Amino acid sequence: MVNKDLNTRRATVTGATGFIGAHLARRLVAEGWDVHVIARLQSDLSMLRSIASKIKVYRHDGTIKSMREIVEAAEPDVVFHLASNFIAEHTPEDIEALIETNVTFGTQVVESMIVNGAYKFVNVGTAWQHFENKCYNPVCLYAATKQAFEAILTYYTESTCLRVITLKLFDTYGPDDPRKKLFSFLARVATEKEPVPMSPGEQLVDIVYIDDVVDAFFLAASLLEEPGESFETYAISSQNPIMLRDLVSVYSEVTGRSLSIEWGKKPYRCREVMVPWDRGRILPGWRPNVSLEEGIRKLITATVEVGE
Ligand SMILES: NC(=O)c1ccc[n+]([C@@H]2O[C@H](COP(=O)([O-])OP(=O)(O)OC[C@H]3O[C@@H](n4cnc5c(N)ncnc54)[C@H](OP(=O)(O)O)[C@@H]3O)[C@@H](O)[C@H]2O)c1
Repeated sequence: MVNKDLNTRRATVTGATGFIGAHLARRLVAEGWDVHVIARLQSDLSMLRSIASKIKVYRHDGTIKSMREIVEAAEPDVVFHLASNFIAEHTPEDIEALIETNVTFGTQVVESMIVNGAYKFVNVGTAWQHFENKCYNPVCLYAATKQAFEAILTYYTESTCLRVITLKLFDTYGPDDPRKKLFSFLARVATEKEPVPMSPGEQLVDIVYIDDVVDAFFLAASLLEEPGESFETYAISSQNPIMLRDLVSVYSEVTGRSLSIEWGKKPYRCREVMVPWDRGRILPGWRPNVSLEEGIRKLITATVEVGE
């Protein structure tokens, strides 16, 4: 499985129909990569509309047989594994889907890579694996499944030629974000006549603009080209956390939107992250280039352009 033309590297991307995965897939295409996407039978591909004719999409039916066939056909130089089921506060009914997506699916990908002689894997973790700055203390079951998958990856890196870089992400933002996150919430708050209740807002937020996040994936892929440890883990942190209240003020100033918020009217979430993890090693050669103010301006401009 050697790609003879170094200028057309083959990437396989899972989670490409999500926020970060779609941005990554678009950049990979823009930079000349041959992009293969593993989607579910039911995945909505609308986030990939602009590159639909330039990528190859495989529909995975949930079985290992299907995954092996996909990876054999995709022949990846690098797999970027972003597929995930994010649930901040799970219910008993969520357990199976959390483990299926965050543990079983990823294990199917890696097993299929080994069988097909593909050995470069960029994985995604979360700062939420480190509640209260602990070496390991998951904020929620989702974070625990991320840790469980890393434990499985250790088996593969110890017993095969697999090389893994896990990028541990913090909060992220940018255009084309289908998730119900802070900035889409604030855009709605700006249209409300009544004050909107929020928590006291004293939690620190570590947030990185999407272009900087995508840069980290490219850098990780190039690090995998060089000799290194079999399993490396890096933090993709702004290194400049900001109190939620101050972040909302910056948003208000940059956008000129006034926001009527009743701070302290809602309680903090159970196991709210008040101070983000700051003990991770930053990915060598990476730093965020987009300031919060610039990122909010880019977000607003892009949103206005698509007429949202
Ligand atoms: N965004 C953040 O701020 C943040 C922070 C920390 C870590 N992360 C991690 O970064 C990665 C990307 O996050 P994101 O925010 O871009 O995610 P997202 O928008 O929620 O997208 C999730 C992706 O995973 C796919 N997926 C879900 N269940 C699947 C399954 N069973 N089999 C195959 N694919 C499945 C989804 O496909 P469908 O279209 O089929 O649903 C979608 O493409 C994830 O690993 C996430 O845990 C993100």
